[in-house]
Amino acid sequence: MDSKTFHRPLLPVLVFSLLVVSSFCRPDKKIHPNNHTAAFRSENQLKKLKLIQADLNRINKLPVKTIQSPDGDFIDCVETHRQLAFDHPLLKGKKPLDPPERPYNQSHSGEVETEMFQLWSMSGESCPEGTVPIRRTTEEDMLRASSVQRFGRKASGDSPSKGHEYAVGFVSGGQYYGAQASMTVWKPRVNYPFEFSLSQIWLVSGTLPHDLNTIEAGWQVYPKMYGDNNTRFFTYWTSDAYQATGCYNLICPGFVQTNRRIAIGATIAPTSSYNGAQFSISLLVWKDPKHGDWWLEYGSGVVIGYWPAFLFTHLRSHATKTQFGGEVVNKRSWGFHTATEMGSGHFAGEGFRKAAYFRNMKVVNLDNRLIPLSDLEVWADNPNCYNIQPRNDRVWGNYFYYGGPGRNVNCP
Ligand SMILES: *[C@@H]1O[C@H](CO)[C@@H](O)[C@H](O)[C@H]1NC(C)=O
Ligand SMILES: *[C@@H]1O[C@H](CO)[C@@H](O)[C@H](O)[C@H]1NC(C)=O
Ligand SMILES: *[C@@H]1O[C@H](CO)[C@@H](O)[C@H](O)[C@H]1NC(C)=O
Repeated sequence: MDSKTFHRPLLPVLVFSLLVVSSFCRPDKKIHPNNHTAAFRSENQLKKLKLIQADLNRINKLPVKTIQSPDGDFIDCVETHRQLAFDHPLLKGKKPLDPPERPYNQSHSGEVETEMFQLWSMSGESCPEGTVPIRRTTEEDMLRASSVQRFGRKASGDSPSKGHEYAVGFVSGGQYYGAQASMTVWKPRVNYPFEFSLSQIWLVSGTLPHDLNTIEAGWQVYPKMYGDNNTRFFTYWTSDAYQATGCYNLICPGFVQTNRRIAIGATIAPTSSYNGAQFSISLLVWKDPKHGDWWLEYGSGVVIGYWPAFLFTHLRSHATKTQFGGEVVNKRSWGFHTATEMGSGHFAGEGFRKAAYFRNMKVVNLDNRLIPLSDLEVWADNPNCYNIQPRNDRVWGNYFYYGGPGRNVNCP
């Protein structure tokens, strides 16, 4: 957050300054010189906008090329070694790593997956070799955040506690060096901009409230974060229970992206439709047995990048819990349970093509081998609002349906 430490060529700074200054001069125009309330307010506003400008200049690196996505996103192709991660003191001057050995016994999920699962690249546009596509953070993104300081971060106070509801499957008590799953992608309704609905894989170690380490990847709908209701591919990490470290996507120095076809934080398209076509993504996170970094792969063999081991404390060795499933924020506005949906917005009992599911769930063991889950436990905070049903059959092995509509007669 230190705005003094950004290094950037002068030109884009100037362009940004002009843009930002021109837009934040607007509110000042009609203030009566004797109106101290307004003057005070606009001075605060000005301070905030200056902070935002400094942050944007730090976060957004000079692109080699920019692709405009139909959803309004700007996807900046940034030279790989200039991405924000390399502002981290421990990465300064370093080169992005090559992918390590992948886990053994990797099986295909049996579903058709392509690299073209994101809206921005559907027109055939792509980032040149040597660059990575990065969703540009805009002034509007920052203005929507409750505080500039906490932009892109989960609130530590209410992290996995008050107001968050889960329907998840998990394994714990072992030593996990990675996890894999295929999950259907949906576009659940999110009732208020400050609520979200997500489906993801968690790798967890440490404990709340101080030293929880997590690696998270999946899809989410989060209007306050992205300014729309689109389903987006996202990542998250923290090494202190969401307090001071970590962030979504590439918004803080941390995750190093190495792939030039997938943009983290960008819209996924298409999504599954009720009783219609089902679309899923398959994700694998695994720890490089040699260097200890945690790598992320999409589909079968599309390596996206890595979380350097030094970001973490407990996760420097291994995860003690691996979790899969959905999470929503329920702010209980006006005393009612939110009608924000989880998964497809339909309960687990509706089954295939109607409820969301996770399948092909595996964990990685110390020998860098993918192994099926032995004791999948399930948990739903409030099964009348969102539930989960584990299943097992010969074709899919272990899997589960999960989700729900939120507010309904049994979930007032
Ligand atoms: C002063 O400015 C504030 C904010 O723009 C406005 O609400 C208020 O009516 C103004 N007061 C006077 C006396 O003009
Ligand atoms: C994984 O691979 C090993 C050999 O490398 C084999 O012995 C084992 O049966 C395989 N396990 C599964 C679940 O495919
Ligand atoms: C997002 O969804 C909510 C709830 O359905 C709706 O009220 C809102 O207008 C939508 N926002 C956008 C930007 O589409």
